Amino acid sequence: MGPGTVCAGWALLVLTAAAATLCSGLKCACLLCEHTNFTCQTEGACWEAVMLTNGKEEVVKTCISLVELNAEVFCRSSKNITKRKCCFTDFCNNGTLQLPTASPSTIHWGAVELTVVVTVLVCIVSIALMLTICACHGRHSKYKHAQQQHSEELLSEYNTPNTGKVLKELIGEMSVSGSGSGLPLLVQRTIARTIVVQKVVGKGRFGEVWHGKWCGEDVAVKIFSSRDERSWFREAEVYQTVMLRHENILGFIAADNKDNGTWTQLWLVSEYHEQGSLFDYLNRKTVTVAGMLKLCLSIVSGLVHLHMEIVGTKGKPAIAHRDLKSKNILVKKNETCAIADLGLAVKHDSKLNTIDIPQNPRVGTKRYMSPEILDETMNMQIFESFKRADIYSLGLVYWEIARRCSIGGAIDEHQLPYFDMVPSDPSLEDMRKVVCEQKLRPIIPNRWQSFEALRVMGRLMRECWYANSTARLTALRIKKSISQICVEEDFKV
Ligand SMILES: Nc1ncnc2c1ncn2[C@@H]1O[C@H](COP(=O)(O)OP(=O)(O)OP(=O)(O)O)[C@@H](O)[C@H]1O
Ligand SMILES: *[C@@H]1O[C@H](CO)[C@@H](O)[C@H](O)[C@H]1NC(C)=O
Ligand SMILES: *[C@@H]1O[C@H](CO)[C@@H](O)[C@H](O)[C@H]1NC(C)=O
Ligand SMILES: *[C@@H]1O[C@H](CO)[C@@H](O)[C@H](O)[C@H]1NC(C)=O
Ligand SMILES: *[C@@H]1O[C@H](CO)[C@@H](O)[C@H](O)[C@H]1NC(C)=O
Ligand SMILES: *[C@@H]1O[C@H](CO)[C@@H](O)[C@H](O)[C@H]1NC(C)=O
Ligand SMILES: *[C@@H]1O[C@H](CO)[C@@H](O)[C@H](O)[C@H]1NC(C)=O
Ligand SMILES: [Mg+2]
Repeated sequence: MGPGTVCAGWALLVLTAAAATLCSGLKCACLLCEHTNFTCQTEGACWEAVMLTNGKEEVVKTCISLVELNAEVFCRSSKNITKRKCCFTDFCNNGTLQLPTASPSTIHWGAVELTVVVTVLVCIVSIALMLTICACHGRHSKYKHAQQQHSEELLSEYNTPNTGKVLKELIGEMSVSGSGSGLPLLVQRTIARTIVVQKVVGKGRFGEVWHGKWCGEDVAVKIFSSRDERSWFREAEVYQTVMLRHENILGFIAADNKDNGTWTQLWLVSEYHEQGSLFDYLNRKTVTVAGMLKLCLSIVSGLVHLHMEIVGTKGKPAIAHRDLKSKNILVKKNETCAIADLGLAVKHDSKLNTIDIPQNPRVGTKRYMSPEILDETMNMQIFESFKRADIYSLGLVYWEIARRCSIGGAIDEHQLPYFDMVPSDPSLEDMRKVVCEQKLRPIIPNRWQSFEALRVMGRLMRECWYANSTARLTALRIKKSISQICVEEDFKV
C-alpha cells in the first residue's frame, strides 16, 4: 500500500466520518465539529489519527462509519507516517496519540527537503485520488481539493439533528459553489454507504429499486447487478451532466459501487417519490382537467430542459431521453412529475457535432418506439431525430393521462398505448405492423371533442404522432400550447 492509497483512504475517511456524524449512536470527540461542542455521533467508531504534515504533527479526531469500510485498513497505523486508532466507547478518541520517535534519517531532513517531500506526497495523493475516482466513475470527474474541503465544511455544518432537508441543501449548495454537476464523488460514496435500505418498491429490467433512509431522509436506491454495469455507469454519467438539475427531472444524489471481492453491487441513489411512477399513479387515480394539465405541463417542462442545449461555461448539452414512458416518469407529492431513467439518453455536442450513443445493449421500450425507429429509417447522424422520437413517445404518455381525466361523467380505465392493437409483450414486428404499415395510432375518443382542454390535448397528441418526424411539434412548442390552455381555462398550474 503506497502513500497515495493511504492518503486517498484518509481523505475518504474524513468525508465518510463527517457524513456518519449526521447519524446518531456512539459519541466521539471531533475537532472539526465546532457547531456541536466538538463532539460527533456515529454508528461506527471513534477515530483518532496523528500524521506528519510539514514536519508538524497534525491530529484528527472524528467519528467514522463502519458500514462498508474496511476497518482493518483505516484503523491500522502505517509505519511511521501516520498513527491511527479506532475505538468503540464514548469519547475514547480524546486521548493524545503520539507518533513513534522519528528515525535518524528523518531528523537530518531540513525544511526544504521536507517541503519537497510533502509537495510530492500531495501530488501523489491528488493523482491517486484522481485515478481512483476516474477509474471508478468515468471521465468527467472534475475533482478539486477546494471542493472537497468545502464539502467537509458543509457536512460538519449539518452536524445537527436533521430535519429532512439536509440532502436538498447539501446538493443546492454544492451545485452553486461546485462544478454544477452535483456532489463530489467522495461525498456521494459517503452518502451511499450510510444508507439503510428498507424495502423493494419496484423491479425493472435492470435490477431493483429500494426505498431507503439516509439519516432519516427518504431516498430511492436503484441496485444494478455487476452484469449491468454499463447501464449503471451510463445512467450515473448522464445524471452528472453539468446543469442537468431541474425540478421536473429526477433529483440524482449519488452513485456508488460496492465491491466485497467476489460481488459488485452498483447503486444509484436519487430522491424518493412515494407516489411512484406515473404508470402506478394512473392505475390508482383519476385526474381533473387541471390535474391533467399540471402533469402534462410538468413532464414537457422536464423534456424541454433535457432537449435544450445551453451554451457557455454554465451550459449543458442537448440530451434526448430515448425511453420516455409512463413507467419512467415519477409523480411527486404535489402531483407534478419528474422524468427518470436516463440510462439510455444521448448527449449532443454541438461544437463537434457528435452524438455519444451509449455502448449499451438496451434499446428503448418497443411499445413506445416511434415509427422511424421501428422501420429503421431514422437518421442516427442527426441529433434532432432523437428528440423527435422522444416527442412521439410523449404523445403516447399524454394519451395515457388524458384517458384518466374525469370530465363529463365518463372516464376510461388506465391502459398502455396500443393495448387494443398488439399483444401484451409486443415484438418489434408486432409494433411495426401496427404503427408503420397500418399507420394506426391510439384512439382519441369522441367525447374529448366536447371539452376545450381535452380537445387541444387530442390535437397535440396527433401532432406528436406524425409518421413524418419533421412535422412533429417540438417540446418547447408543446409547453407553450399547454401553458396557453392553462391561461385560457384559468388554471393555475
Ligand atoms: N425515485 C423513485 N422513487 C420512488 N419510486 C421509484 C423511484 N424510482 C423507481 N421507482 C419505482 O420503481 C419501479 C421500477 O423502476 P425501474 O426504473 O427499475 O423499472 P421500470 O421503469 O419499471 O422498467 P424499465 O426497466 O423498463 O425502466 C418504478 O416503476 C417505480 O414504481
Ligand atoms: C477532550 O479533552 C480535552 C482536554 O483533555 C478537554 O478539554 C475536552 O473537553 C475533551 N473533549 C471531549 C469532547 O470530551
Ligand atoms: C454545548 O455546550 C453548552 C454548554 O456546555 C450547552 O449549553 C449546549 O447545549 C451544548 N450544545 C450541544 C449541541 O450539545
Ligand atoms: C520509517 O522508519 C524506518 C525505520 O524504522 C526508516 O527507514 C524510514 O525512512 C522511515 N520512513 C519515513 C517516511 O519516515
Ligand atoms: C459478497 O456479497 C455476496 C452477495 O451479497 C455474498 O454472497 C458473498 O458471500 C460476499 N462475499 C464476501 C467475501 O463477503
Ligand atoms: C411542486 O413541488 C416542488 C418541490 O417538490 C416545487 O418546486 C414546485 O414549485 C411545486 N409545484 C407546484 C405546481 O406546486
Ligand atoms: C415532412 O414534413 C415537413 C414539414 O411539414 C415537410 O416539409 C416535408 O416535405 C415532409 N416530408 C415528407 C416525406 O412528407
Ligand atoms: Mg424505469
